[in-house]
Amino acid sequence: MNDKLNFIYQRRSIRNFLDKSVDDSQIEALLSAAMAAPTAMNMQPWHFVVVRENESLNQLRKTSPFSKMNATCAIIVCGNLNTSKRAMMERFWVQDCSAATQNLLLAATALGLGAVWCGVHPVKRLEENVSKTLALPSSVIPFALVFVGYPAEDKPARTQYDASKISHEQFGRPWRG
Ligand SMILES: Cc1cc2nc3c(=O)[nH]c(=O)nc-3n(C[C@H](O)[C@H](O)[C@H](O)COP(=O)(O)O)c2cc1C
Repeated sequence: MNDKLNFIYQRRSIRNFLDKSVDDSQIEALLSAAMAAPTAMNMQPWHFVVVRENESLNQLRKTSPFSKMNATCAIIVCGNLNTSKRAMMERFWVQDCSAATQNLLLAATALGLGAVWCGVHPVKRLEENVSKTLALPSSVIPFALVFVGYPAEDKPARTQYDASKISHEQFGRPWRG
């Protein structure tokens, strides 16, 4: 592993959190990292909803059986297709929001916070649950529910590097085989 890339290996899904709030300046730092992500044609087809009120957090925890985290903050990464360029945005908004979500997770790690990406889009039932809680207009699609907070668990840094998942020059030719 390359030491310069430690911030990437250290990012792990954190699912247990301390009862300590995340302040506005930390949230703005996370969102400035998210909005530094690349987007197709630089369209930035995203919108972020920050949630810290208990009632809404409780509702979001009911989104799916896999989103019951006790974090004090949730950031919902949404695709905002409310634009005259909707046809173009529809092509790549998922990739754009993925890049933003990963930037957000890496920034959380770098700031000593923990986070977990809970998938929402493209599962319609999950999208409906989140849209209802956040009163999203129909042109704003919830993409990922990211719980953020101070970690109450430690996970080792790691990569899952696997040479069998790499081909050299043509598919099936091993890398350094
Ligand atoms: C699209 C996507 C959806 C995910 N959904 C959930 C989820 O609903 N609940 C959860 O606890 N983790 C979820 N995860 C986190 C994965 O379980 C986790 O990334 C994977 O187990 C690898 O562990 P790591 O993040 O610690 O490297 C999701 C990750 C991605 C990329």
